[in-house]
Amino acid sequence: MQLFEVGGAVRDALLGRAVHDRDWVAVGATPKQLIEAGYLPVGRDFPVFLHPETREEVALARTERKTAPGYHGFAFHAAPDVSLEQDLARRDLTINAIARTSDGTLIDPHGGRRDLEARLLRHVSPAFAEDPVRILRVARFAARFTDFEVAPETIALMRGMVAAGEADALVPERVWQELSRGLMEARPSRLFDVLRDCDALKRLLPEVERLWGVPQRADYHPEIDTGVHLMMVLDMSAQLQAPLTVRYACLGHDLGKGTTPAEVLPRHTGHEGRSVMLLRAVSERLRVPTDCRELAEVVAREHGNIHRSSEFGATALVRLLDRCDAWRKPARFGEVLLACECDARGRLGLQDTPYASAPRLRAALAAGQSIDTAAVAAGAAERGARGPDVGRAIQSARGVAVAQALGLVSSAAEDG
Ligand code: CTP
Repeated sequence: MQLFEVGGAVRDALLGRAVHDRDWVAVGATPKQLIEAGYLPVGRDFPVFLHPETREEVALARTERKTAPGYHGFAFHAAPDVSLEQDLARRDLTINAIARTSDGTLIDPHGGRRDLEARLLRHVSPAFAEDPVRILRVARFAARFTDFEVAPETIALMRGMVAAGEADALVPERVWQELSRGLMEARPSRLFDVLRDCDALKRLLPEVERLWGVPQRADYHPEIDTGVHLMMVLDMSAQLQAPLTVRYACLGHDLGKGTTPAEVLPRHTGHEGRSVMLLRAVSERLRVPTDCRELAEVVAREHGNIHRSSEFGATALVRLLDRCDAWRKPARFGEVLLACECDARGRLGLQDTPYASAPRLRAALAAGQSIDTAAVAAGAAERGARGPDVGRAIQSARGVAVAQALGLVSSAAEDG
């Protein structure tokens, strides 16, 4: 049996990037031999094992990579006569199809090094088309390797796959897995550029695809096009090193602009409510995790109010913080503000403009949090208040605290 290092680790080492997971291919072995040598079988669909000491993944060389549903059991795949070259030929991209021996010799039958130098994401062979997840992988690699282009012949192949209905066959879990990883890359907009280019975006996320060509008011949005704006927002979320929850919220915040009636354009009055409805459908369809869904919904609903909150008095600020559930979830509210900052700075010429709503709302939250709710509730109860009246007393005490902290008229005066 011979072991070769393969895949992303070889690629990343050649690029001078940090290597995280190392993958190996075993040639000339059977599952039985590996198990006897102490390897732990872990592959559900493929013959994959963990090395007894390093715990790194070792896969048996194989000629078949299709991940069709219901395709389990590795006895069928065990093929000790499969060569390294045969294994490499079935991989997705040339830059992922370089192997390295233990003495450091590179085996590169598909010109992976040449494409690394040329900064090209190029498929190895027509076998690329066996696995539609690769469409998303290429898009994700484009978002990560920001100076790489997708080879025109690879885009053409992906377009053919999409036309043949392959993008529709992707299971939601895989779409989310790749999309969420792509959102976390250095330039998420490039993922969407590639998916648009090969026509996959309209199959996978028509709610997003539809935003290109939709105009916005030039005074708020010098970039005008909603799709262009969305991409700037996503790249800003990467620039500000936002977590996935925030990046997903950025993706969903303006979906409603895609369904604004033509006669009211370029205004988008009420788009927030439509964003919420469309976002719910997307989150449901892709089985998006709850923390991402919930944050995205608050941001979709409230981002307009948060942008406008510099004009709000204390009572309106307290109400906004209530709707964001900020008292109970202050950390999440921090993420809401970060998503709104990405939105505000994801506009042409405004990338470096400080986002004034965030510090003001943080100050309002801190002031409202500083009141002793138990004491206010007890005082209200003593005066005979019951149920919702106690809640109102707390609200009003928060309003007073916010007004004082921000130098506004007191909430009582505002209410009156
Ligand atoms: N591979 C493939 N087709 C897929 C998935 C994986 O050909 N659909 C091959 C590629 O050769 C890839 C290797 O398996 O390099 C390992 O896959 P994986 O660990 O998923 O990806 P990496 O390329 O290591 O990328 P990442 O850095 O994102 O983990």
